[in-house]
Amino acid sequence: MHYLVTGGAGYIGSHLVLALVAAEHQVTVLDDFSTGHRWATEGHEVIEVDIRDLAALRSALSQRHFDGVFHFAAKSLVGESGQKPLLYYQNNVTGTANLMEVALENGWGHCVFSSTAAVYGNPQAAAIAEDHPLNPVNVYGDTKLAMERLLSAVHQQGAMHAVCLRYFNAAGAAPLAHRGEWHEPETHLIPNILRRAGGEDRPLTIFGDDYDTPDGTCIRDYIHVLDLADAHLKAMAMLHRQGGFHTLNLGSEKGYSVREILSACEQAVGAPISHDIGPRRPGDPPRLVADASQAEQVLQWRTTRNLQAIVESAWLWEQQRQVLL
Ligand SMILES: NC(=O)c1ccc[n+]([C@@H]2O[C@H](COP(=O)([O-])OP(=O)(O)OC[C@H]3O[C@@H](n4cnc5c(N)ncnc54)[C@H](O)[C@@H]3O)[C@@H](O)[C@H]2O)c1
Repeated sequence: MHYLVTGGAGYIGSHLVLALVAAEHQVTVLDDFSTGHRWATEGHEVIEVDIRDLAALRSALSQRHFDGVFHFAAKSLVGESGQKPLLYYQNNVTGTANLMEVALENGWGHCVFSSTAAVYGNPQAAAIAEDHPLNPVNVYGDTKLAMERLLSAVHQQGAMHAVCLRYFNAAGAAPLAHRGEWHEPETHLIPNILRRAGGEDRPLTIFGDDYDTPDGTCIRDYIHVLDLADAHLKAMAMLHRQGGFHTLNLGSEKGYSVREILSACEQAVGAPISHDIGPRRPGDPPRLVADASQAEQVLQWRTTRNLQAIVESAWLWEQQRQVLL
């Protein structure tokens, strides 16, 4: 099969590209390199285009056949989304509408889409299932929910089968293949801890240690990026088998506190990592953990890599990243 991967130069997309190639699929990456990396696309066909630009998208992709599209391209910084809402709506929602327009014009009928747990907003359950109320509390989550609804509407027209995968916290790396996470600014906990451990002169702050959790710090669900990639392959295969429109959570169903993550990182690094304690950040719920039983049922998928594998792979990658700097 030949797949188009939008956002294939980014963190999760570039790991999916590895998994597609390992499964002997042909891959074309589409990216504007706004947050992605050229080194992450070496050896693959790349179409450099901004999905906001419908004319450019059309001219780059008309008459091209793909057996499906994996749609990662998006802006995904929660804080920035509040400051630049129009950029987020244009990039994420208009960009997705443009992509669907070109997909339908060219007859590509299968889409696996990167959604997020941010569509749920403040959790009302210990483990969040897909039927949890959808009530995003930031612009980023709003745009992702709008993208899901856009895909659902396109599906109802009859020409597109789609799966929206709602990821919890992606983490880890494929250091043997020289792939890993590198965002600027980095807002994710594990790379921030490891960049500090690797000697970067940056503050490492735990935001709040007075939550109603066993050690007072926030609890999140971390999923290895290679487990995510496996789920994408299974989701696309399922679409080819049975079609339809599906929404599935992807998480490990295990919650780890910020302190537990810090101590797992200290173990991987073999040294204490200095940090300070700051006030709570507004809008951070104490606990966000997935109920991923639907994905297990529908995709016959579950996570196979634990927290230790996540942190060790991320630490190996961090040491490689220092060399690329
Ligand atoms: N990282 C996570 O923990 C997480 C969690 C939930 C959902 N997601 C979603 O997964 C997807 C990938 O996340 P990531 O962490 O790999 O992000 P990333 O920023 O590393 O990758 C996004 C890629 O999309 C490209 N892109 C952005 N806007 C574009 C545009 N207008 N045209 C063409 N290319 C464009 C960027 O250059 C980049 O390569 C995003 O949609 C994100 O919202 C990520």
